[in-house]
Amino acid sequence: MSRLRSVVRGCGSYLPADVLSNEELAKSVDTSDDWIVQRTGIRQRHIASPGEMTSDLALAAARAALENAGMDAAEIDLIVLATSTPDNTFPASAVAVQAGLGLTTGFAFDVQAVCSGFVYALTVADKFLVSGQHKRALVIGAETMSRILDWTDRTTCVLFGDGAGAVVLEAVEAVEGGRGVLTTHLRSDGRHKGKLFVDGGPSSTGTVGHLRMEGREVFRHAVGMITDVIRDAFAATGESAETIDWFVPHQANRRIIDASAQKLGIAPEKVVITVDGHGNTSAASIPLALSAAVGDGRIKQDDLVLLEAMGGGFTWGSALVRW
Ligand code: ACO
Repeated sequence: MSRLRSVVRGCGSYLPADVLSNEELAKSVDTSDDWIVQRTGIRQRHIASPGEMTSDLALAAARAALENAGMDAAEIDLIVLATSTPDNTFPASAVAVQAGLGLTTGFAFDVQAVCSGFVYALTVADKFLVSGQHKRALVIGAETMSRILDWTDRTTCVLFGDGAGAVVLEAVEAVEGGRGVLTTHLRSDGRHKGKLFVDGGPSSTGTVGHLRMEGREVFRHAVGMITDVIRDAFAATGESAETIDWFVPHQANRRIIDASAQKLGIAPEKVVITVDGHGNTSAASIPLALSAAVGDGRIKQDDLVLLEAMGGGFTWGSALVRW
């Protein structure tokens, strides 16, 4: 019996035009460029303009990914959008993207796993494609985190930004040693749900709420969870820190990225880092980093690319992709 595999056909991204530097932020909240850079590696973040919504960012990234893939939107029959900052409580922002692309076929839905959202969405889309039920998917991560930040809380507002990224996946016959999503591993542990959360929602307060975080607690758990799930990916495939070409982690914090890479023995020159330019864009950060590294020629076809993320829930996950 033939088997299918999800191959990446293209990727793209979008960042809002407005840039907020650390220096600018330090004018309105008690912080400094030095503190932010030393603790996080972040230098600036992009902020969506008034009226610019998550689905707008997602649509721009989706169009860029389709162009990069040389594909027409009409070829897409599945859209999975990872976001924790949807346009509305419902419907899913994914259907706004579907409509924006002029599609009335296939189906579209949102996945909510905070910063792990892109790895979750990639995993879900991959399952639909390898089942043979759908042929081509847009997997998108898009966030307007600026809308749920408490801009008076220096312990959180300096960390996040807005943006979107997308990849196009296509189901093809699996070839031994060939391209595609090789393995995915998802985890969650709801006992930690109070460590990183938004203090509002339709069924609790009836308001949108603001992001709240026990930063030190998140940091304490992050490296262990990330490295565990990457070891699962290595065990499932026989690959290793030596055989991967690129490590594209969720871009939350430079210190978490460096500590994870070091613990796994991944050489620093294999690590793709973009957190300095856009802060933590939650579900958008991995496809933003992928787009940057594909765009500047680092990631090339057939490269072995390791993805990982960890975020609110806690949720975490990894994926290994032969590009
Ligand atoms: N500017 C200046 N000072 C600050 C700021 C700020 N923006 N924020 C906190 N401080 C102060 C604190 O008030 C504290 O002062 P005190 O000692 O007088 O009480 C001091 O800096 C140290 O605070 P800590 O919280 O201990 O600082 P820490 O070194 O832990 O860094 C940080 C904080 C950057 C949030 C860190 O804990 C971290 O990176 N955690 C991970 C959080 C994260 O990345 N979350 C993203 C979502 S989850 C994910 O994506 C993996």
